[in-house]
Amino acid sequence: MVTRRQQLALVGFLQAQNCTTIPAAWRHPEARLDFTTADYYRHIGRTLERGCFDIGFFDDRLAMPDMYGHDHTHTVENGIRCVKLDPTAVLMAMGMATSHVGLGATYSTTYHQPFHVARVFSTLDHLTGGRAAWNVVTSVNDNEARNMGLDHGLAHDARYDQADEFMAVVHGHWDTWDDDALVMDRDAGLFARGDRVHRLDHQGEHYRSRGPFTVPRTPQGHPVVIQAGQSARGSRFAARWGELIFVSNLQLASARASYQALRTQAAELGRDPDSMRVATLVFPVVGRTRAEAEDRKAAFDALTKDIDELSLLSEGLNFDFSTKGLDDTFTAEELASLSGIQAIRDRVIERSGGAEPTVRDFMRITSRASLNHAVVGDPSDIADHLEEWFTTPACDGFVIGSSHQPAALEHFVDLVVPELQRRGLVRERYTGTTLRDHLGLAVPRPGAWTSA
Ligand SMILES: Cc1cc2nc3c(=O)[nH]c(=O)nc-3n(C[C@H](O)[C@H](O)[C@H](O)COP(=O)(O)O)c2cc1C
Repeated sequence: MVTRRQQLALVGFLQAQNCTTIPAAWRHPEARLDFTTADYYRHIGRTLERGCFDIGFFDDRLAMPDMYGHDHTHTVENGIRCVKLDPTAVLMAMGMATSHVGLGATYSTTYHQPFHVARVFSTLDHLTGGRAAWNVVTSVNDNEARNMGLDHGLAHDARYDQADEFMAVVHGHWDTWDDDALVMDRDAGLFARGDRVHRLDHQGEHYRSRGPFTVPRTPQGHPVVIQAGQSARGSRFAARWGELIFVSNLQLASARASYQALRTQAAELGRDPDSMRVATLVFPVVGRTRAEAEDRKAAFDALTKDIDELSLLSEGLNFDFSTKGLDDTFTAEELASLSGIQAIRDRVIERSGGAEPTVRDFMRITSRASLNHAVVGDPSDIADHLEEWFTTPACDGFVIGSSHQPAALEHFVDLVVPELQRRGLVRERYTGTTLRDHLGLAVPRPGAWTSA
């Protein structure tokens, strides 16, 4: 009999936009294009729940990709993630159509106030009966900065320094209502105990926030915190604050090493490494037979374009790739100056083996606009791959990306999940009601995060 902890976590990687992370998604004949309707998100939520997923989570950016050539024309013409709906509003539509699956959304620490973010996610946690999670990002692009009153984003590590204080304020507010603060005794005329609701009175380098917070403690104590930092600074942040941690790793050996490193880092910060779950991003392409899966992959690959790749590279690395030809190289100084997602840059440096990488190398190695970490095969091939990574162990679960939606997710739920259930790796039904129940994460006691 497999216990909860021995089952892998399943996370649906969702986008409140016109495509998945892969721009070609909207071009696929099976893709639904009613991405501005509640029905689209309700359907995806029910699909995840049918597959006993722990959580579906929406990524976010605060700008459409227009770093390439500093122009958005190519973005909207090619449908390169040019639509971005507010993920928390979309999440509520999904929450009202489901009863168990966890619900996560991304909000940036760089462009919001901590009081606001703490309140949005506490509200979601109450209204969904304890299923909410916040994916904490620091935002990578100058075009996001320009939508928010600034010319440039902060430098990479500075973003995380500021985010540390942001997290302390958010957790501070989440902890200001004691569990027994609410009384609601009409006869005694006492709504809540005055001495059980505290002011935060935070005054720091970046933020000042007084309180008291206006949302009582939530069903999960507080929403689950998701993080995906992967650089040295980013993973220190993830190890400090993350409860569910997303990673992207293509090789089993390096994934195993970074999984262990993250757990060690958490332990060094005084945390129990078992108090977090690490989920690796994969893009399963499944068919009833291996040949059907390979045909599906080939049909999808035929839909991708070079401009998708160049546009998303420009976004990810905060650099305008239209300033270079496809065979132009990057000097060491240029590489060092890239301020976006450091893990992308570092992967290109590592895989170029000392040579100065060309734009083509960036496109080939990062494949940001095509199926990266694709696992192609029949249900048992996919289950074998996930089982190997999980038992090695290189992770505690998987972020399931989709070529296109909702079809690719449906294929996974209908074909792969039953095979994983047969192997005892995925639950057959939900046994708890909150996201913490699904992930096997304890309800935190007040002060646990701010006193760490
Ligand atoms: C599965 C996954 C989802 C992510 N979602 C977002 C997102 O929604 N918005 C965002 O700005 N960054 C997102 N990121 C990027 C991370 O927040 C982070 O910036 C990246 O992994 C690089 O790490 P670094 O910031 O330490 O360089 C995501 C990363 C992964 C692996």
